[in-house]
Amino acid sequence: MRNLLSIEDLGREEIEAILDRAESFAEVGRRDIKKVPTLRGRTVVSLFFESSTRTSSSFELAAKRLSADLVSVKAAGSSVDKGESLKDTVATLSAYDPAAIVIRHPYAGAAQMVAGWTAAAVVNAGDGKHEHPSQALLDVYTLRRRLDSLDGRRIWIVGDVLHSRVARSDVLAFTRMGAEVTVCGPPTLIPRGIEGLGCAVEHSLERLEEADVVYALRMQTERMSESFVPSLREYAANFQINSRRLHPRQLLMHPGPVNRGVEISGEAVDSPQSLIAEQVAAGLVVRMAILYELLAGAERPAPVPDDGSGAPAGPTPIGQPA
Ligand code: CP
Repeated sequence: MRNLLSIEDLGREEIEAILDRAESFAEVGRRDIKKVPTLRGRTVVSLFFESSTRTSSSFELAAKRLSADLVSVKAAGSSVDKGESLKDTVATLSAYDPAAIVIRHPYAGAAQMVAGWTAAAVVNAGDGKHEHPSQALLDVYTLRRRLDSLDGRRIWIVGDVLHSRVARSDVLAFTRMGAEVTVCGPPTLIPRGIEGLGCAVEHSLERLEEADVVYALRMQTERMSESFVPSLREYAANFQINSRRLHPRQLLMHPGPVNRGVEISGEAVDSPQSLIAEQVAAGLVVRMAILYELLAGAERPAPVPDDGSGAPAGPTPIGQPA
């Protein structure tokens, strides 16, 4: 794997390899010393042009747990404020010879462009409305742990599908893994032609009980330049996921951040059916696995110099035997 730009680039076997690797990092995370030497001497740049809590913190902690040197740049407070372009910003940071650049940007295709400007491996941490592949991988990881397999599972993705890069990546990833995916929302919030990704479309929650997994999406009002629903109150009346609509056997997911009382009720977020905290925890080990596969995987051998300690490049904690 050269870059992680889109789930479209990954087959089922490649997804499973990343998830299996993440399982091994979850095991490392249960040890006292959670750090491994895999990326010692290598540099990871985290470059975020949009707000983030989960993705930025988990990629940064993942890089640190792999012993990489981390450079963290947020657009606010950087020379982007002075008018520096994305290309010049990437050229500047590439002068440090990073092994990987993790980028979030409001424009679809930004990560692909960056991949053409740098020798570093590029990870798409969300590009506009296009894709959020690491979110989809952590979502599949979370479900695989609960359900063993996604084959034949019915997953409903409910809400603002139009503005959601998570929805696009999740439809691709869930269907690759054998699930039957339905996207549901008001017609104004469902992109035309989304069935082409292999999902069904519903415009009401009448048949929600068919779902094994309900995946609620945030209303992305920051991406809405016009009114897509009459009001958030009316949207919630028709599409909010709450305990009245959720069956006790159904699992509940959300990529975060949640808008309690809009697309999801507070009591649903905090219910035993909710996997939201598990999704966040999965983000760390899955992002460790992504950096590992990109920088130390089979197609890109890790150039960690032999320091004579005998420490392997794989996920063995520092200070612990292999
Ligand atoms: N799910 C997600 O991308 O969350 P952040 O915006 O907090 O990174």
